[in-house]
Amino acid sequence: MTEQKDRMTEIQEQDKRIEQNLELIKYRIVVFSGKGGVGKSTIAVNLAYSLLKDSLKVGLLDADITGPNIPQMVGLSGMPEMMDLHQILPQIKDDLRVISIAPMIPKDQPVIWRGPLRSGTISQFLADVVWDELDVLVTDLPPGTGDEVLTVSQKMHPQLAIIVTTPQEVSLIDCRRAVNMAKKLNIPKIAVVENMSGLICPHCGVAIDFFGTGGGEQMAKEMDVTFLGRIPMEKQSRECGDNGTPVVLKYPESQTTNAFLEISRNVLKFLKQ
Ligand SMILES: Nc1ncnc2c1ncn2[C@@H]1O[C@H](COP(=O)(O)OP(=O)(O)O)[C@@H](O)[C@H]1O
Ligand SMILES: [Mg+2]
Repeated sequence: MTEQKDRMTEIQEQDKRIEQNLELIKYRIVVFSGKGGVGKSTIAVNLAYSLLKDSLKVGLLDADITGPNIPQMVGLSGMPEMMDLHQILPQIKDDLRVISIAPMIPKDQPVIWRGPLRSGTISQFLADVVWDELDVLVTDLPPGTGDEVLTVSQKMHPQLAIIVTTPQEVSLIDCRRAVNMAKKLNIPKIAVVENMSGLICPHCGVAIDFFGTGGGEQMAKEMDVTFLGRIPMEKQSRECGDNGTPVVLKYPESQTTNAFLEISRNVLKFLKQ
């Protein structure tokens, strides 16, 4: 009985710390999708870097506990510093504050955790990471409608959900599910980004209609949510993701970077509406 009471007190105290932390973060954005591999992490990273270019203070939370790719994509190594039991300092790269479970688990080992443990880790990040004041916190989520998405939505109260889709119908079907999930979770602003929208030929730079284009915008219109823009499929994006230098940093003049900067401007406009 007392053990149960102790646990209750612990959760109440944690929720209080989460509230105090959130007061310091102006805009909270979650990035998710109905499907894996559509480019959530790529978009979370490059949106965060595009916002940094606007001189904003930005944090990036990797809430994909079983597939934490963010440190690899931003080229971070080492461990976040623990000040004490309830104070974890985010790692800093190019002025971006980052937190991920990746450095805390052995490389190549699977994270075989049931939902409550994954949710518990996210709650701990929300309660104990010392972000200080942030203009924007971008959260990268796993695909689908699992525990991580629920915990982040319920505890973080994001103002904006960005749902990533590719133009093919199989992705759009799952995207509609994700949009409805965001509506059910009462996230006030919902928007769609279409990724891998046309393949840019590495030889001549012309866009090839590989997966099709426009499906994301059409779907957003049908579902009465905002369309933020489309990102082409470009070889450099994938290389940059693998090498840990985000494409908006490495190729500032590329079509992909221009697309990200426009999306980032649209995000800020939408948040301020
Ligand atoms: N627009 C793009 N152009 C080229 N490669 C991309 C693009 N978007 C994502 N990728 C690549 O596709 C793979 C999956 O993207 P990722 O962001 O990890 O997806 P998710 O987080 O949805 O699983 C990665 O190798 C990434 O570099
Ligand atoms: Mg990912």
